[in-house]
Amino acid sequence: MGKSIAIAGKGGTGKSTITAMIIKYLVEIGEGPILAIDADPDANLGTLLGLEQGTSVGELREDVLATFKNFPAGMSKAAYVEAGLHDIMVEMKGFDLITMGRGEGPGCYCYLNSLIRKFYDDLAPSYAWVVIDNEAGLEHLSRRTTGNIDALLIVVNDNPISLQTAEKVNKITEQISNVIRLKYVVTNMVPERRREALMEKVKALSVPYLCDFPLNENISDLIMDTGSLKGFDDPEFRERLKLIIDTIDTKKGG
Ligand SMILES: Nc1ncnc2c1ncn2[C@@H]1O[C@H](COP(=O)(O)OP(=O)(O)OP(=O)(O)O)[C@@H](O)[C@H]1O
Ligand SMILES: [Mg+2]
Repeated sequence: MGKSIAIAGKGGTGKSTITAMIIKYLVEIGEGPILAIDADPDANLGTLLGLEQGTSVGELREDVLATFKNFPAGMSKAAYVEAGLHDIMVEMKGFDLITMGRGEGPGCYCYLNSLIRKFYDDLAPSYAWVVIDNEAGLEHLSRRTTGNIDALLIVVNDNPISLQTAEKVNKITEQISNVIRLKYVVTNMVPERRREALMEKVKALSVPYLCDFPLNENISDLIMDTGSLKGFDDPEFRERLKLIIDTIDTKKGG
């Protein structure tokens, strides 16, 4: 069984950026195959990784509900969903990406959600790493459309509300039935002048601190110019990414 990392935190703290960097790093060090899951309804992980926007699980779900009556004879809903899930998976060099898309609208999705969960359970063991970009609400974790997690990274920045969100995320994860083995706070893009004051607050959180991703203007320049993080390489970031992966590896099975 491979390892899984979920990234959570307040909106705009850098979850998707860090998720994309973790995926890029794992691919670069040859730690494949990797399953990347974009569990944020406002999906942009694919774009950050330099991919075209594909179909989401949410759209597939709508499609199943809309066309169920016209299914080919003999084709069950389960078979249709499974074939669809395979189709919408974007297969890249070193990683595959699934975009979850919008959550539940009106109508009952429970059955479809359980099919997605089964698909995940069947699929996840064939990957060395599963990396999940969450929305702050952790909807997919709590609905169990994704499984147990080895490490949850909660991203905070110098916005004090992001610290409150970190505590909320921690509480939510204590209430859900999924097992989360390791939880860490990581800081991102903290201006130098606020670092000391912020670190005081970070160290008082219920979740231990792991590392800091510096504010790096090349990131916003790259996003501005190309929309993706392709080509971004920075020794400081590498060092933090290595620490994250090594920490999870070292504490695996602990
Ligand atoms: N270390 C960094 N240095 C400079 N800019 C950064 C850094 N990390 C993230 N950013 C920028 O901050 C913005 C927010 O980042 P990102 O989209 O990754 O956050 P998010 O938490 O996923 O947001 P959302 O909650 O909207 O999904 C982006 O414009 C991104 O390019
Ligand atoms: Mg995001």
